Amino acid sequence: MLYIGIDLGTSAVKLLLMDEKGDVKKIVNREYPLSFPKPGWSEQNPEDWWTQSVEGLKELTADYDKKDIAGISFGGQMHGLVILDEADQVIRPAILWNDGRTVEEVAYLNNEIGMKKLSAYTGNIAFAGFTAPKILWVEKNEPENFKRICKIMLPKDYLAYRLSGVHCTDYSDASGMLLLDVEHKCWSKEMLDICHVKEEQMPKLYESYEVVGQLKDDVAAMLGFPKECIVVAGAGDNAAAAVGTGTVGTGSCNISLGTSGTVFITNDVFGVDSNNALHSFVHADGKYHLMGCMLCAASCNKWWMEDILGTKDFAAEQENIQKLGENHVYFLPYLMGERSPHNDPKAKGSFVGMTLDTKREEMTQAVFEGVAFALRDSLEVAKQLGIKIDETNICGGGAKSDLWKQIMANVLGIKINTVEVEEGPAYGGAILAAVGNGVYESVVEAAKVIVKQKDSVMPDEKMTALYEERYQTFKKLYPALKLVMQEI
Ligand code: XUL
Repeated sequence: MLYIGIDLGTSAVKLLLMDEKGDVKKIVNREYPLSFPKPGWSEQNPEDWWTQSVEGLKELTADYDKKDIAGISFGGQMHGLVILDEADQVIRPAILWNDGRTVEEVAYLNNEIGMKKLSAYTGNIAFAGFTAPKILWVEKNEPENFKRICKIMLPKDYLAYRLSGVHCTDYSDASGMLLLDVEHKCWSKEMLDICHVKEEQMPKLYESYEVVGQLKDDVAAMLGFPKECIVVAGAGDNAAAAVGTGTVGTGSCNISLGTSGTVFITNDVFGVDSNNALHSFVHADGKYHLMGCMLCAASCNKWWMEDILGTKDFAAEQENIQKLGENHVYFLPYLMGERSPHNDPKAKGSFVGMTLDTKREEMTQAVFEGVAFALRDSLEVAKQLGIKIDETNICGGGAKSDLWKQIMANVLGIKINTVEVEEGPAYGGAILAAVGNGVYESVVEAAKVIVKQKDSVMPDEKMTALYEERYQTFKKLYPALKLVMQEI
């Protein structure tokens, strides 16, 4: 039997076909536009997700016997607000995870409702990208649209709906809405009231590995797939990526160096840090996790290479980088504001420390290092909770660079493991589909059998000490520049 994982990303949808042993048969990528209608806004058209996913599914399965396709599941960009009217039509473009328009709504939630209450209701506080503040934004700024809302859902859930006709979501993705009581895995009545939303408007909740339905007849006919092909709830992209890298069970870590950058730490039990600097979410294996999320990670490098240096040859730009741990240039990677741990949509990207002899490669190196330092900020919060991390898995586009992995190992002072299949969320989605079909008893069992480690990068003692000094300087830069950044 064959299983499909759909990774609904920010710039593209990636589709992966695997057999039940986890052998990857084919991977397909389809891009769609991302629009920034105003500075700090970020939107996408859900119809583009659907059209490109359908085209991708056709291409993915063209050379295979379609009657073997047994299940489809997802890893999806989190937090995006998708709203449907009573005819299940999309009311307005989706407002994405990296959209910073909700500064006022976040201030209202965190300061007037209060972080203590939010944390008690949901296990989390408000961040600009989360879904609840976006609902308040639509209510205030687009009251006509707000009145028409019949169903609220997250990006990947829109695909599940179009495939199966079921309004569903899963606990891992729902955790990032600030509407879920994460500890007890149910909608928070208090939060729904605060956002003037009724439970009927919310999708039905499932574990990530649970079956939500089968393909609709017309969809099965259009794709040529069997009608019995199941649709499995899936997970937020970070939880799906964790499954795809085998980061399940207790106390393991995955770093995703994608458009966003995340540090994802699994936990058997629900927990929060005292400032809610890390997100406390449900994991796709049915347990919990803590996560720090930076809004721009590999996208800093893409911006630097393509938009500023004007090159697509990323590897050539890395060739001249030699002196690790000695760079006097620093980069603050806050190109879309920042989530963890600063929670500041007005934070900006900055280069600091240049002199007349600064070279292009030192600035490139600073970009890699700045992202690594910012991820360390989240790891430090976890350490303060007594969590001990000696090693981590890694995935995402940035993980293809050996140099970046070396920098990460030395900045974080831990071993970095790469897995054989690096397509984190898409692979995780396909694994969830196989679990949903009963091929494996649990997500933990499936990940243990399927996911294989490829190689590791060890931190170097001398280099780690050099980077430790530099991290101490990096930590002083955001507080020093914070007020200026808000003025800009
Ligand atoms: C996680 C987050 C991002 C998006 C990226 O909280 O906002 O990682 O899921 O797709």
